[in-house]
Amino acid sequence: MSTCLNGEMPAHVVKISAVEVEFSLFSTDILENGVALTCAELRIPIIAYSPMSRGFLTGDIKKPEDIPEGDMRKYFPPFQAEAFYENLKLVAEVEKVAAKKGATPPQIAIAWIRAHSGEDGFPIIIPIPGATTEARVEENTKDISLTEEDIKEIEGILSKFSVMGDRYPAH
Ligand SMILES: NC(=O)c1ccc[n+]([C@@H]2O[C@H](COP(=O)([O-])OP(=O)(O)OC[C@H]3O[C@@H](n4cnc5c(N)ncnc54)[C@H](OP(=O)(O)O)[C@@H]3O)[C@@H](O)[C@H]2O)c1
Repeated sequence: MSTCLNGEMPAHVVKISAVEVEFSLFSTDILENGVALTCAELRIPIIAYSPMSRGFLTGDIKKPEDIPEGDMRKYFPPFQAEAFYENLKLVAEVEKVAAKKGATPPQIAIAWIRAHSGEDGFPIIIPIPGATTEARVEENTKDISLTEEDIKEIEGILSKFSVMGDRYPAH
């Protein structure tokens, strides 16, 4: 970063306050593409959007028809046809972890993101789940901690799973 002789930032340089990026059990790109590491080095917080992969990780969507007509998720590759049922396998695994922990799948999905926050090689990470009812907001913000064993179990699940379908439609 360039600085003026007096140590202040020049007018054309602004500090980046946060990086908003998709991060969830379905979207782990930032772990490999340098975004998490760079944000950690520069102490830039990450805002993790779609932390439940647009609702997929809640376990409430079990077939493509569960997505209402007109809902834009219908156009997203991971929710379409063959990809849907392949991706549902990850949801099933998260449901198993949740059942063992006495938690819900959204809570596990969010706790997994929070478990990275401030760890070695990670900046502060703030998941921003979207929900339309008070009950869901309460559910999603309940403090669920994952143990090292839980994290290892989830990493094991992720290592055997490949998301089918790009995050966004080609156009
Ligand atoms: N910067 C970007 O490009 C970008 C892109 C996408 C999203 N975002 C932001 O990220 C935030 C969240 O993303 P998102 O809404 O796409 O995905 P999300 O948080 O991964 O999932 C939201 C979906 O999960 C459902 N849900 C939430 N909590 C639930 C619970 N406890 N039980 C069952 N279902 C539950 C919601 O249903 P209901 O809504 O019906 O309650 C909604 O359908 C939003 O603020 C959004 O603006 C940013």
